[in-house]
Amino acid sequence: MHGPIRKELLDAATRVIDSGNYILGPEVHSFEQDFARFCQVDHAIGVGNGLDALHLALRTLDIGPGDEVIVPSNTYIATLLAVSYTGATPVLVEPGTRQPI
Ligand SMILES: Cc1ncc(COP(=O)(O)O)c(C=O)c1O
Repeated sequence: MHGPIRKELLDAATRVIDSGNYILGPEVHSFEQDFARFCQVDHAIGVGNGLDALHLALRTLDIGPGDEVIVPSNTYIATLLAVSYTGATPVLVEPGTRQPI
């Protein structure tokens, strides 16, 4: 599947390995700029994983204690953890039914 971009992937991996910048660094900065342009927004911020992305998104929306966040019941646990890290209450809902379980 990655055949058409194999060389591009290997070149990028080589740049990262050779630079020693495994966290942040110019490659992440370049990705953030490219992704922001792709999304037609002013800024994009790279994070370490999906859990951090969800948690930061909720914090940005000022979600916290006393709030309830509807979460699909067939999700991954990180989705629930992101909500509970804010102090809000996750409410599991079966997709398509709108009914809490
Ligand atoms: C629906 C969903 N939310 C959140 C995550 C969390 O992603 P990460 O494992 O990168 O923290 C996953 C990971 O598989 C996921 O499937």
